[in-house]
Amino acid sequence: MLSLKEELSNVFGDAFESIDLPRELGLVRLSDRPDLAQFQCNGAMAAAKVAKKAPRDIASSIVEKLKNHTVISNLDIAGPGFINIHINDRLLSKTLTHMMTDERAGAKTYGSLDDTIVLDYGGPNAAKAMHVGHLRPTIIGDCVKRLCAFAGYNALGDVHMGDWGLPIGQIITYLKHEHPDWPYFDEAYSGEYPAEPPFSFTELETIYPAASAKCKDNKDFLEEARLATADLQNGRAGYIAMWKHIMTLSKADMKRNFDSLDVTFDLWKGEADVAAIIPDVEQDLKDKSILAESDGAHIIHVKRDDDQKEMPPLMFYKSDGAVTYGTTDLATIYDRIKTHDNITHIIYITDKRQSLHFEQLFRASGMAGYTDNISLKHIGFGTLNGPDGKPFKTREGGIMRLDTMVKNAREKAQNRLSEADLAQDFPDEEKENIARCVALASLKFADLINQSHVDYIFNLDQMTRFEGKTGPYLLYQAVRIQSLMRKSKDQNISTGDTVNISNENDRELGLVITEFPDVFEQTYTNLSPHVMCEYGYKLASSFSKFYAACHILSEEDEKLRNSRLALCKLTHKILLHILGLLGIPVPERM
Ligand code: ARG
Repeated sequence: MLSLKEELSNVFGDAFESIDLPRELGLVRLSDRPDLAQFQCNGAMAAAKVAKKAPRDIASSIVEKLKNHTVISNLDIAGPGFINIHINDRLLSKTLTHMMTDERAGAKTYGSLDDTIVLDYGGPNAAKAMHVGHLRPTIIGDCVKRLCAFAGYNALGDVHMGDWGLPIGQIITYLKHEHPDWPYFDEAYSGEYPAEPPFSFTELETIYPAASAKCKDNKDFLEEARLATADLQNGRAGYIAMWKHIMTLSKADMKRNFDSLDVTFDLWKGEADVAAIIPDVEQDLKDKSILAESDGAHIIHVKRDDDQKEMPPLMFYKSDGAVTYGTTDLATIYDRIKTHDNITHIIYITDKRQSLHFEQLFRASGMAGYTDNISLKHIGFGTLNGPDGKPFKTREGGIMRLDTMVKNAREKAQNRLSEADLAQDFPDEEKENIARCVALASLKFADLINQSHVDYIFNLDQMTRFEGKTGPYLLYQAVRIQSLMRKSKDQNISTGDTVNISNENDRELGLVITEFPDVFEQTYTNLSPHVMCEYGYKLASSFSKFYAACHILSEEDEKLRNSRLALCKLTHKILLHILGLLGIPVPERM
C-alpha cells in the first residue's frame, strides 16, 4: 500500500507529466506551515528552469489540472509558486481505514527473511563488570536490530565480547602472584582443573582493577601479563581453564545486565571464537598478496591515493606475533561470511572514536574480497555526559556500573509514578513491572531521541517525567488507550473499524497517523532512531490533544463514536510499533 504522501506524489507526478515535465517534480511533502496547508508541492520552482517559464505559471497549470481531482479539497499557490494542498476527507478516511486493516499500519518491508543483517553491538569486555559505557551501544544496537527485523530482514544480534585480549592476561598474572600454588599456573600439571571457578564474580570485579593498576606502575608485571596473554592465545591448558572460569562468571553477569535492559542477542560470540581461524585468514591474505611485512610486523596497507586524512595500515600481526583488534575483527568477518551464506549487511555500533578502526577494517575486508556483496556500516555514537558536560561519572568520580544506573532509573520511576498517583493501589509485583517499563522508556527514549553521533547529557530527573518529550509520556498515552479499549469492551461498545473524518480534531490526529509509513521508511533507510522518536512524540501529543477535546465513548453519534474509536485503536497500534522498535516494553495498565 502506498503512503498518503506517495499517493499524492503520484497524482501530482501525473499532472507534471501531462504538461511534459518530469514526474519527480510532483513530489509532495508535509506542509512547512500546517496552519496554512496540510501538504505542499514545490515542483514548480524546479520546473521553471527546465520549462523556461515562471514558476507561478507552472503552478497555475498544475492547480488548474488538479483542482477538481477527487483527492483534493483545496489548492492554492503561495509565494513564488509553492502549491498548498488540502486533501479530501474521503481520501484521508480511506487511507486510515486501510491502515487499520494492515498489521503493519502501512509500513513497508525493505528486505526479505532470506537476507541476513548482522548487528554487532554491546561489545562488553569479559574482564570487567558492565558499566555506563555500555548503555549506548546496547540501546542503539538493539533498536537498529529491531528496525532491520521490522524492515523484513533476518536480523542477528552478535554481542561480540572482548574476551581474548590483555585484560584476561592481566587477571591471570595477578592471580598467579596471589595464588602461585593453584594448578592453573603449574605447567607440569596434567590433571583435571576444578569445574567451579575459584573466585566469585564479585571478587573478579576487584581483581581486574587491581591487576590493571599494577600494570600501570610496574613494567615487569605488564610484560608478564603480555606473555600470559600470548600463552593463553597459544592454548596453554591452565590459562584456558582459567579463561573459561572468567567467561562463565562474566557471561552470567552480562546476561543479567542485558536482561535488565530487555535486550537479547542471537549470537554470543567473542574475539576468542575466531582465534583458531586466524592462521587460515593469514594464509588467505598471503595467497591474495595483501599481507605486507614491515619491521617484523604483518600489515595490510589500506591507504588510497586520494585519501585526505592519515590512513595507517591495519596491523594483522604485531612484531611480537600478537594479534590486534583489527585482526580479530577481520577474522570475524571471514567467520561470519563462512557461517551465514546470505549476509547482505554488517552493522557495527560502537563509540565514534573507533571510526578509523572500522574504516581500516572495511577497506581490508574489501581488498580481501570478503564483502564484495555486503554493505558494511559503522554507527559511531557520541559520549554520555554528566550535568557538567563531561563524561558521566559517579558522585565519587568513578565509573558507574550499568546495573546501578538501571536501579537508579527504576527508583526514580517509582517516585514519578507515586507523584503522578499512577499504579499506586496495584499489587506490588505489577507495580514493580510498571516501574521497570517506565525506567526503560526513560533511558531508551532519552538516548534514541538524540542523533547517534552527538554527545548528550544524562538527566534522570528530566527523562523520567510523564510530561514533555520523554519515553514515559509515550508510554502513558499508549496505556491510556488500552484503558479506553477496556472500558469500551466493558460497556459493550463495538470498537470501530472504519474511519470517517468529518471535523478538525479528528482530521488533525488522522493526518499525523498517516505519516507513520514514511517515518518508518526514513528511520530505517537512514538508520536514524531519532526520527522515529520525534514522530512518536508528535503522535502521542496529537492523541493527547484529541483525547482532551473529543467525546469518545460518550459520543452520542454512533458513526462518529466508531470512527473515533478506530482512530484510538490505530494510534495505539502505531504507538506499540514505535515503542517496540525502540525496545520499550508496555505494561497493561498504569
Ligand atoms: N569490545 C569493544 C570495546 O569495548 C567493542 C566491540 C565492538 N565490536 C567489534 N566488532 N569491534 O570497545
